[in-house]
Amino acid sequence: MKKTTLLIAGLSIALPASSLAYPNGTPQYVTDAAPFCASCHSSVKAEYMPELPPDLAEKELPEAKHYGMVRMGAPPSPYIELTKDEKERLIKAAKEIDANSRVTVSAPGKTSPGSEIKVTVSASGGNGPVIGVMLVDSALRYQARPIASEGWLVTAEPEVKGQDGKKQTDWLDKRRKGAPRNLSFVLIERQRSDPANGVYPEGTIVFTLKAPAKPGAYTVTAALLYGTENTDKAGFFQRPSGRILFSEEKTVMVE
Ligand code: HEC
Repeated sequence: MKKTTLLIAGLSIALPASSLAYPNGTPQYVTDAAPFCASCHSSVKAEYMPELPPDLAEKELPEAKHYGMVRMGAPPSPYIELTKDEKERLIKAAKEIDANSRVTVSAPGKTSPGSEIKVTVSASGGNGPVIGVMLVDSALRYQARPIASEGWLVTAEPEVKGQDGKKQTDWLDKRRKGAPRNLSFVLIERQRSDPANGVYPEGTIVFTLKAPAKPGAYTVTAALLYGTENTDKAGFFQRPSGRILFSEEKTVMVE
């Protein structure tokens, strides 16, 4: 009896905590992060996992990981309550969001050791209420590292503009008071989504970086994390409806 009560109490604490994190992004992880964390998300391209055997990489693509689960007729699929038509509509809507999601990175082609550069990431797509952007070294789903691991120092707080084009500090304001705000992972918040009318989440982030001391060819890449299903339907946080999309790997020569 006592054990059951404890178990129920434990569950009721655990559930709201997890639903706060997934979906709707990860509002509590206000720190540098890398794309490997999003294990439930589908990868937009197989090229993001060159180290995997091709059949395993295929399984991470939306077709297998997401739509395969949607079409599956039995548990553990969280979609079994949907009719065939509803499933196909959901898949069509997700494909439409994917087709309208993009992320680009712009940076100077060269700089000198220790100099400061600005790197601008523009992202759009997903379904809100937030989109996530990480500045990393490479377009690798499981092996990309936060940009600082390559020796780039993020020297200032990122300048974030939301869907309305206005500056927002919602994410950075969640940092513990007094903690440095020079993060390379940002959730761009307050995103509206209305795909039927062509409205998709969007935003830009300007990062200020100090170049590594060691000369060489470096790559700077942005990762976009977004969702493709209506969040109010996402009762099961294990849904593979999240996505990881990378920008091109932009080469910056430090010389
Ligand atoms: C337990 C599974 C799971 C893990 C692990 C996970 N996510 Fe997600 N995430 C989801 C789901 C499901 C969605 C998509 C919701 C939708 O389709 O709208 C999502 C969507 C998002 C979104 C877009 C917001 C939204 O609701 O659409 C961001 C940003 C995000 N995740 C960031 C992260 C980050 C960062 C990590 C690693 C720290 C992470 N996720 C790990 C399940 C997960």
